[in-house]
Amino acid sequence: MRFLAGLTLASACFALHPLRAEPMAPASAAHDSDTTELGERMDEMRASFRKLRRQVADASANASSLDLVARLRRASEQSAALAPAKAATLPESERSAFVADYAEKMKAFIAEVDKLKAALEAGKNDEAVALVAKLESLQKSGHREFRSAKKD
Ligand code: HEM
Repeated sequence: MRFLAGLTLASACFALHPLRAEPMAPASAAHDSDTTELGERMDEMRASFRKLRRQVADASANASSLDLVARLRRASEQSAALAPAKAATLPESERSAFVADYAEKMKAFIAEVDKLKAALEAGKNDEAVALVAKLESLQKSGHREFRSAKKD
């Protein structure tokens, strides 16, 4: 009897063992989705956008801001040509409309990036500040709509 109980306990531990390894599984799954091509392009957007936000009001930094805008634009264009990972989780019937909607919103984002470039070239920094705020709000709505919920 005691032997049986020991055996039961041992097999219970054995059965539980994979659970202890489980935290590794979501971590590597998250890593996989973090390294989607779109995720990488978005990381580039974050790097240039973060600097841009800090310096956009400063007219003496306009040459450097224009360089950041060019980088943001390049990464946005590359992003527009990709599909969000969330598309794969949707029913097939909804997928192509979802991806087309995403591409359209990315194009609208790029149109605002072009306005930002023009404002900086014209030395209109107040306008540039407002456009950066607009880009930020497009980022928020884009993430709400097209990013997988678990990534928020
Ligand atoms: C200033 C603008 C933006 C910045 C700085 C930005 C930044 C980011 C960052 C840092 C991530 C996480 C990347 C990772 O997984 O490592 C991300 C993900 C994502 N962003 Fe953006 N984003 C911006 C605008 C947008 C817009 C306008 C849209 C859609 C219209 C969008 C759609 C997405 C999607 C779908 C993902 C998930 C990636 C995937 O599905 O693989 N983002 N973004």
